[in-house]
Amino acid sequence: MTRRYLILMGAPGAGKGTQAARLAQEWELCRISTGDLLRAAVAAGTSLGQRAEAIMASGDLVSDGLILELVEEELDRESCSRGAVFDGFPRTLEQAIGLGDLLERRGCAVEQVIVIEVPDSEIVRRLSERRVCESCEKLYHLSFDPPGDDGRCTACGGGLRRRPDDEPDTVLRRLEVYREQTQPVIDYYANERGASQTGVATVDGSRSIDEVASDIRERLAVVEAER
Ligand code: AP5
Repeated sequence: MTRRYLILMGAPGAGKGTQAARLAQEWELCRISTGDLLRAAVAAGTSLGQRAEAIMASGDLVSDGLILELVEEELDRESCSRGAVFDGFPRTLEQAIGLGDLLERRGCAVEQVIVIEVPDSEIVRRLSERRVCESCEKLYHLSFDPPGDDGRCTACGGGLRRRPDDEPDTVLRRLEVYREQTQPVIDYYANERGASQTGVATVDGSRSIDEVASDIRERLAVVEAER
């Protein structure tokens, strides 16, 4: 069986997590979110979590070496045997090159990069109203994708919380870091080493969640047809 590896890229709050969860379910792939993995390490109080916590709260990036170790561990899980949707990874050129090496050693490559584009003003609006279930991590937006009438998670009844890095000053820093360190990764896949085997498509992420999902589906259907 050919394993499939897709990358969802975009600024903080662009909707990567929302779309990656749907895509992973529809395509029966695992979702590898480095942000979720780091938050789980922080919650569990591991030494990695202790190192990552302050960096994440400031909006800066955790070191490439730690991130690549985390991803390698995930890639070898049984749940990822059909492939993966990467959400929030790779975020630097070093991570993109490292991912290429990890996949090459497994006889695979990144198949498609989907870039979700959303204006900054919308990003700030989205992150200020984002809430996350404390138990199952399901995402909500108080206006666009609200929880139940009781204000609790519709999937598991858990309480909702705001992410500490969604404070306005930290969001601005995350946007800055995205422009400086992550946008070059898109050029890398579009123009450099990745271009021979990896497709790059951009979708307008400012539309509704369902519209963005169906646009991504259409882009991937084209890729599927060309395989
Ligand atoms: P991470 O958790 O990856 O955060 P991020 O990339 O900043 O992205 P977000 O999770 O904030 O947003 P998203 O694009 O997933 O949007 P979402 O779907 O939630 O990383 C956090 C931190 O961890 C980093 O700052 C860094 O410190 C560290 N880190 C993580 N990965 C790393 C790596 N590889 N290297 C180094 N450090 C790393 O949507 C946002 C909100 O909008 C939600 O409320 C949602 O319901 C709503 N929404 C989504 N789509 C729509 C839509 N179409 N219309 C209206 N509302 C929408």
